[in-house]
Amino acid sequence: MGKPLFAGNWKMNKGVAETREFFEKFLPLTKDIDFENREIMIAPPFISLSVASEIVKDSKISLGAQNACWAKKGAFTGEISPVMLKELGVKYVILGHSERRHIFGESNELIAKRVKGVYEEGLIPVLCVGETLEEREKGITFEVVENQLKEGLKEIGNLDGAELVIAYEPVWAIGTGKTATPSQAEEVHSFIRQILGEMYGKNVADVIRILYGGSVKPGNIKELIVQPNIDGVLVGGASLEPESFFEICKVEIS
Ligand code: 13P
Repeated sequence: MGKPLFAGNWKMNKGVAETREFFEKFLPLTKDIDFENREIMIAPPFISLSVASEIVKDSKISLGAQNACWAKKGAFTGEISPVMLKELGVKYVILGHSERRHIFGESNELIAKRVKGVYEEGLIPVLCVGETLEEREKGITFEVVENQLKEGLKEIGNLDGAELVIAYEPVWAIGTGKTATPSQAEEVHSFIRQILGEMYGKNVADVIRILYGGSVKPGNIKELIVQPNIDGVLVGGASLEPESFFEICKVEIS
């Protein structure tokens, strides 16, 4: 198993000045964190990646981006290439986030291309999957998640597991204050592991980290992280304040 990953997705929050302010407070807090048994990643908006990269380069904090194009360069107005991200020391790229899917209409087809491009550039895709409230109420959560997984990963053949992260983010739990219960999350995580096992073999599936995302807070991290198939978290709102993100990152891991 890889180290549990505590990831902050800042979404469209914090420009350059606020990014500096965050790290000024956050880095000293992480001094006592044991980075041997966990990894912390922060994904700022593109415009703040460069300054974040300078700030974290001598620390143990990993950097993530919130999207990426598949191509190395060219006529793709408004997009950022994986090569550009690599130049800044970015390690992870969040792809297929529900906000990309639902607000900006990104399809499985498009997401699969992004996943492939990012993967081939040596960055680690963090592929997000998750059902809407309507889909959960219809009882089709597993079908939706399986389809998003298979479609999103269809361009990727063999992998060794460490090169991929999946984030399960039920859409109804994002930014709503409603967290999936630990058993609801574990049920889907273990299903995701099973599908990955069918796709890549059990040994690979066992080392792919599956993160939970959706209203993760200092108050619920403990009960989530102890679940056998929850290998970390993807945190939105609570990653914006250095203190609350630190409270989440320092949770005891058995
Ligand atoms: P919240 O933690 O604000 O619910 O956001 C979750 C999320 O979408 C992380 O990618």
